[in-house]
Amino acid sequence: MATIIVVLNRKGGVGKSTITVNLSATIAEALAGVEVKPIDWLAPVAALSVDPQGSASWWASRVGETLPFVFAEAHNDLETLKRLRDSTAVEYVIVDTPGWYPPEARDDNSGDPLGEGRVADAIRAALDNADHVIVPVEPEPLGWPTTQETIQQVVLPRGIPFTIVVSNWDPRDGEADRDDTRKHFTKFGWKVANTVIRRYKLHSKAAITGHVVTQYPKSRVAQECLADFTNLALEIQMTIVRQLRRGMSR
Ligand SMILES: Nc1ncnc2c1ncn2[C@@H]1O[C@H](COP(=O)(O)OP(=O)(O)OP(=O)(O)O)[C@@H](O)[C@H]1O
Ligand SMILES: [Mg+2]
Repeated sequence: MATIIVVLNRKGGVGKSTITVNLSATIAEALAGVEVKPIDWLAPVAALSVDPQGSASWWASRVGETLPFVFAEAHNDLETLKRLRDSTAVEYVIVDTPGWYPPEARDDNSGDPLGEGRVADAIRAALDNADHVIVPVEPEPLGWPTTQETIQQVVLPRGIPFTIVVSNWDPRDGEADRDDTRKHFTKFGWKVANTVIRRYKLHSKAAITGHVVTQYPKSRVAQECLADFTNLALEIQMTIVRQLRRGMSR
């Protein structure tokens, strides 16, 4: 059964799709075999998008045949996730979810914070199967309340282990924003990854150039980009192993 990692934050534009695509590529690279692939070979990593806006889908299509993982859309189809989860070939499924507006609060405070509809159903299905949730957050206070709500309303009630990842941090802005963001969430007792995904133009141009992080043309900056995702893959994997050892798996 595949390990399912869901990348989630109600706040838009925090790096969910960037993390989904590049983490998938990095894990796929780590698991790539050297043996000749049989005809029906299926990569050990699948990225699944439940985002109808599909920026990850567009990115995947720009990379084309050299994409090192399987990519599937699932906002209309809850079966794909179950098929990938149960496939013997797939070891990791990384799920990209869309940002969303909270549904109107009802007088009696009932109702699911994910709202209604197919996309909400797809996010619920992903969370029902999740082994771990990654919550990206940008290093600026404006995004903190929405991120907090996402965790408190959607992740904690389900008891899914999660890691907050500071993403899109520009080292030229100094360390204070990054450290304040980490401190803000750590004080709730929540796990914040040691790994920070730094902001690099190579990432924002990658869909246009048709690359994932393991394929960026060689340069010092490309190495830095890859290092962040390699570190994130390692840290998340170590965290999942620790959670299994402590009997906290789903
Ligand atoms: N580490 C990074 N370095 C440079 N640009 C980044 C980085 N992370 C994200 N971006 C850019 O920020 C924008 C938003 O990122 P992304 O699409 O991954 O966020 P998202 O959370 O998936 O957004 P949405 O909620 O709309 O789906 C994109 O233009 C992306 O290229
Ligand atoms: Mg996205």
